Amino acid sequence: MNNMPNHVAIIMDGNGRWATKRGLKRSEGHKEGIKILEKIAIYAINKGVKYLSVYAFSTDNFKRTQEEVDYLMELFITMFKTKFNKINKENIKVVFSGRKTPLREDVLKAMDNITKKTKNNTKGVLNICLNYGGQEEIVDACKKIIEDEKDGKVNIEEINKKLLYKYMYQDLPPIDLLIRTSGEYRVSNYMLYQMSYSEFYFTDVLFPDFNEKEFDKAIDSFNNRDRRFGKVK
Ligand code: IPE
Ligand code: IPE
Ligand code: MG
Repeated sequence: MNNMPNHVAIIMDGNGRWATKRGLKRSEGHKEGIKILEKIAIYAINKGVKYLSVYAFSTDNFKRTQEEVDYLMELFITMFKTKFNKINKENIKVVFSGRKTPLREDVLKAMDNITKKTKNNTKGVLNICLNYGGQEEIVDACKKIIEDEKDGKVNIEEINKKLLYKYMYQDLPPIDLLIRTSGEYRVSNYMLYQMSYSEFYFTDVLFPDFNEKEFDKAIDSFNNRDRRFGKVK
């Protein structure tokens, strides 16, 4: 029997290349990617993953063309309004990580709606990283700690690794397994703080071609790792 990692993170990469390869517009790849996200989230959480973090849009993705950014924002709104009914029925709680600025008001509203709708769900947590940057998260945590220190809510002596987790955008456990699709071997400013002892799994599969079988392969690989956390076994 395979052990299920408690927290899995996915860098959902390769949508654009998937579309270009087929002579389609990059947006078609994003549309396909969203469908896969819904499928994989339900599959992973039903298999026992408690936390699933997905990289949907990085702070640096705002450097893309306005057309692509606008398309993605519309896609997120549609997804949270319609597709996520299924996620809600599956008893999955949705939370978001990332900066609010410069997200559009309508996107923020759609995010807020789905957060509220699913807040009492208990099967697992889907953490959607939207307008997210790992270094930005650490910077924002520092700012919050300084404010709380000024307000007397925290003392410098109390600041430690465990407390830092509580100052991240969401209070999530460390990442056990990180999956990146599309054959890129980098973390692209993903959850840097939470990744300190993650196992990495890279696959050449482009995200729109990712499926349950590919997810299982990553879990199998995870189960063959020897996690030592610095100790000698
Ligand atoms: C990932 O796919 C989705 C986002 C970054 C929003 P890409 O759009 O990065 O696809 P490639 O890497 O260009 O193929
Ligand atoms: C990382 O992918 C961001 C998301 C998957 C949302 P990118 O495609 O933006 O990363 P780079 O540019 O290849 O490093
Ligand atoms: Mg990419």
